[in-house]
Amino acid sequence: MADEPLVLGIETSCDETGVGIVRGTTLLADAVASSVNDHARFGGVVPEIASRAHLEAMVPTIERALDSAGIKASDLDGIAVTAGPGLAGALLVGVSAAKAYAWALDKPLYGVNHLASHICVDQLEHGRLPSPTMALLVSGGHSSLLLSEDITTDVRPLGATIDDAAGEAFDKVARVLGLGFPGGPVVDRKAREGDPKAIAFPRGLSGRNDPEYDFSFSGLKTAVARWVEAKRRAGEEVPIADVAASFQEAVTDVLTRKAVKACKDNGVDHLMIGGGVAANSRLREMAQQRCDRAGIRLRVPRPGLCTDNGAMVAALGAEMVWRDRAPSALDLSADSSLPVTDVHVPAADLGHGDVHGQAYDALGGSAG
Ligand code: KG4
Ligand code: ZN
Repeated sequence: MADEPLVLGIETSCDETGVGIVRGTTLLADAVASSVNDHARFGGVVPEIASRAHLEAMVPTIERALDSAGIKASDLDGIAVTAGPGLAGALLVGVSAAKAYAWALDKPLYGVNHLASHICVDQLEHGRLPSPTMALLVSGGHSSLLLSEDITTDVRPLGATIDDAAGEAFDKVARVLGLGFPGGPVVDRKAREGDPKAIAFPRGLSGRNDPEYDFSFSGLKTAVARWVEAKRRAGEEVPIADVAASFQEAVTDVLTRKAVKACKDNGVDHLMIGGGVAANSRLREMAQQRCDRAGIRLRVPRPGLCTDNGAMVAALGAEMVWRDRAPSALDLSADSSLPVTDVHVPAADLGHGDVHGQAYDALGGSAG
């Protein structure tokens, strides 16, 4: 619809410089510049390299997004940006850019939560989220079960990983198997040729007295490393595809079992899965089977929208505008450990009408 808000979203919480443009729940542009190859030789993301890459990619990526959406920056109704959680220096580049554009264009600024954005992106594919929605977010930095009544105001954590994130486990297992970084996509590919029942790897926190909705992947990762090490020490060949398939089966079994249980226990008939690991083919397949059996509707965005991108930030920003939520002040700061319950960072109520005036007051300056 033409009267739906047109919002540009900027995402720089990790190694992807993402700029998306959304009108309401329609995706118009999704430009991403990734520094993933610059980190590969270190086996993980190096924060300083990521920040530098964001700085270089920011303006060209914004221009590319505007071009491909066929709009002018002045047409926008708002600028949204990931305010956290994420790498502090990397977030800062996005937040600074968003503030500069918002200020220069005189548009409202929305500092939003990375995790809520991962949930909201599904609106671009499957329409507005039902209320309530259960979300399983699985990526390199987080693994959480979240319950949301309204994605612009309320995200309640039910459980999370107590050690490694699911994606981190994929990355570490890939390293043990010598498959490179990031590990998720290549483990997923290798696993297709292997037997998921070949090795009985442990299912973390699955005992009767364990927390119902929390996850643990550190024990599984160690079990895989020990198993591989023992094979190598015995001079035997490591069956890489079988290890990948059995490891992947252990991760997806626990994730989908707990997510479906959380839906049933809370009377929620929708499950969305987001974050980089939601691109995993076995996770998608197993979640579909288990949701079908339980009468739960599964919503998983296409893989390109599951990994970090600017479209997800624009999607949440557009929803903020649509629902008339208060914008952030121009003194918005990046918060590397922004709690998941802070869906967005509204301006403090300083008793002034317009956001720019508030920002100036907050900065102790005087608006020109
Ligand atoms: O959401 P994301 O792009 O960035 C973070 O916020 O972390 O997720 C990246 C993570 C990496 O750990 C990567 O290995 C994992 O998602 N990943 C996958 C797959 N594709 C990406 N894990 C399993 N299977 C995949 N197909
Ligand atoms: Zn993410």
